[in-house]
Amino acid sequence: MNQRVLPIVEALQRHNDKRPVSFHVPGHKNGSAMPSAGKEFFSSLLDFDQTELSGLDDLHEPDGVIAAAQKLASQVYDSAHTFFLVGGSTAGNLAMLLAAFQQDDVVLVQRDTHKSIINGLRLAGVKPVFLYPEYDEASLLSLGVSFQTVEAAYQSYPSARGLILTSPSYYGWTPALRLLIEHVHDRGGVVLVDEAHGAHFRAGSIFPDSALTQGADVVVQSAHKTLPALTMTGFLHIGHSSKVSVQALQEAIAMVQSSSPSYPLMASLDVARQYLFELMQREDDEIAAHLSEQKRNILNASSKLREAVVPEGITQDPLKCIVQVPDGYSGWMLQRYLEEKYIFTELADHRHVLFFLSFEEVPEWTYDYIGEAVKQMMEQEVIDDCYRPPLLPPSFGIQPIHDNISRREGEQQQELVEESYGEKAGADLIPYPPGIPLFLKGETLIGERYTYLRQWLAEGGAIHGGVKDKKGNWYISIWKKDGET
Ligand SMILES: Cc1ncc(COP(=O)(O)O)c(C=O)c1O
Repeated sequence: MNQRVLPIVEALQRHNDKRPVSFHVPGHKNGSAMPSAGKEFFSSLLDFDQTELSGLDDLHEPDGVIAAAQKLASQVYDSAHTFFLVGGSTAGNLAMLLAAFQQDDVVLVQRDTHKSIINGLRLAGVKPVFLYPEYDEASLLSLGVSFQTVEAAYQSYPSARGLILTSPSYYGWTPALRLLIEHVHDRGGVVLVDEAHGAHFRAGSIFPDSALTQGADVVVQSAHKTLPALTMTGFLHIGHSSKVSVQALQEAIAMVQSSSPSYPLMASLDVARQYLFELMQREDDEIAAHLSEQKRNILNASSKLREAVVPEGITQDPLKCIVQVPDGYSGWMLQRYLEEKYIFTELADHRHVLFFLSFEEVPEWTYDYIGEAVKQMMEQEVIDDCYRPPLLPPSFGIQPIHDNISRREGEQQQELVEESYGEKAGADLIPYPPGIPLFLKGETLIGERYTYLRQWLAEGGAIHGGVKDKKGNWYISIWKKDGET
């Protein structure tokens, strides 16, 4: 197949070349009905914001240009089938769970997972057994679930129908999955992988192996995270020997995505696939040199910065740079000083700032500003007694079947986080980013996770499931206490 063509982009261009008259949705009528402020802002987009007209195919029953574009993506990724997603990995994760499992199936789930997986478990009505990851002692970052944990989980739950993994981590750490996947297949289960941060892995051998090449049944990727695609786009790939059918996935995707998928989003997937193909033609050494120069420039911006050391058994995605801040300071502090200089990073935590690098050039002056931001931060008082636990305490190991992750125990109320010890979470409490629920709705707010939550908020982290008032106090959602109205 010719990877240089762009079926969706070209079909939209052909359509517009005819200067079409619109008696159809969308209401902006190829831009002619758009008020002037919007017209200017969206000018280059409106002509392409079309609907399922003749020649433009239909994402939910594709047999024309969208089918051709998906096929080109499937060839690049070497999948049995690839679907375009216009609701991000969120939609892909929901769909893969709905397609792969039946109500009440027991499913093994890596606990440090994005909230979309948790919500997918709820929608599918399955019974999750959460597997806690291992942690790197130095950085306290997740290493993913170990083979031993999965093996032990199968001993307790031999009827488990499959395993849901998240790999790479948000930070780009990628464990080898092949043995885990084989183990689950040997037991008749399916392996679904949220690979939201790995859409570029096919670009060359300097990147970690995708879960797809290691035999996963279904793999979901956010194209918009690491490839040049518009926000909300993604791919859902089916592996060559997957037990989850194209039909089941097609139906599930149609359930969770709009019946009017955005053509600009789909066209951008076409472009991102072509970009990936061109990256694959570039020499690995050239890409590696480019990315390591960017990383070096960031780290050399100040003698105070270090890169987190990659532990044994983990492959680091070279597109990510995990910068460790000096003791006595937090990642959020550095992130704030960088933002004052209009340098925006992907994520910060207690001790790191995560930079997503670029396949393209970055302005040279950036690095001087990074150096200055570090200097300004170091002029501040150090934080004493900084408690820096891992996100989810590893001591949990395997958590028995979670009896009701959809539990609703009455009305929610907002409570100061300091006053909420011992209460039950009224909503999932989710540090954001990375979007991994710390407490699920109904869980009791105690223990190391509660300490983590307090520390996360005190140091400047944000959460979903809570609100900050003007004075900076955090209120979180809990179930209404007995006797209160
Ligand atoms: C691991 C992981 N999975 C899924 C998602 C959801 O992806 P999207 O924003 O494409 O819906 C995210 C978003 O940050 C994520 O980090």
